[in-house]
Amino acid sequence: MIIVMFGPPGAGKGTQGARIVQWLGIPKISTGEMFRDLAAAGTPLGLEARNYWSAGQLVPDEIVVGLVKERIAAPDCRSGFILDGFPRTVTQAETLDGMLAGQGSALDVVLNFEVDKQELVRRLSGRRTCPNCGATYHVDALPPQRENLCDHCGHTLARRADDSPESIITRLEEYRGKTAPLLAYYEQRGLLRTIEANDDPDSVFGRVRQVLEEVGRGQGGRR
Ligand code: AP5
Repeated sequence: MIIVMFGPPGAGKGTQGARIVQWLGIPKISTGEMFRDLAAAGTPLGLEARNYWSAGQLVPDEIVVGLVKERIAAPDCRSGFILDGFPRTVTQAETLDGMLAGQGSALDVVLNFEVDKQELVRRLSGRRTCPNCGATYHVDALPPQRENLCDHCGHTLARRADDSPESIITRLEEYRGKTAPLLAYYEQRGLLRTIEANDDPDSVFGRVRQVLEEVGRGQGGRR
């Protein structure tokens, strides 16, 4: 199954994507994580992209699509994958359709996570991530067992560079202006499934499972 996780910053795409990985055993491809890893490794492309994302702006399409094209061609994507944070513009969506058609496949579903703006800001302001293994926490909703230490690897947690109040405002504006128009694109193609995602992660995942099971049944049980 090929799944797109769609929604504004802080909607829970990464959190729910990690649960789908556990459940379906297919890889999750997060363009945001790819950019953070490339910046941490100090590659020229990673440093160029950081100028955009650290300020909350979208990274130019030509940089993003090259990375995704290479990643989805990898052998572990043959049984399906989850795209988290891609596509984010109509150009990216059209390019993705072309890439998949070239591989003889197509998107199965776009999960659109809907969350109130006030809750988005609360989630992003309280998010803490592990710079070592990438695990995500929230100071109130999903705290680590030991204060400010990762449950998985024990590393000290940090706040993402783009979770500053100024970057959060820019990211929400970028979403509204450049990414939200994609909702109509996927609605027209019959791929959009909207999930009410204001409440706790377990309840939201219950809805995600229900939708994916319906999509799977529509495909005759194919995952
Ligand atoms: P990216 O890393 O994709 O960030 P984002 O889209 O802004 O999304 P987030 O990771 O902030 O939020 P999320 O929806 O995954 O929520 P999460 O699960 O973490 O991209 C970063 C940047 O890279 C972009 O701004 C852009 O510059 C660039 N970029 C990436 N892809 C690009 C592309 N295709 N084109 C151009 N540029 C691109 O949850 C958030 C918090 O809430 C966490 O603390 C979590 O614990 C908590 N939480 C989650 N669910 C719940 C819940 N149900 N109840 C309570 N708390 C919850």
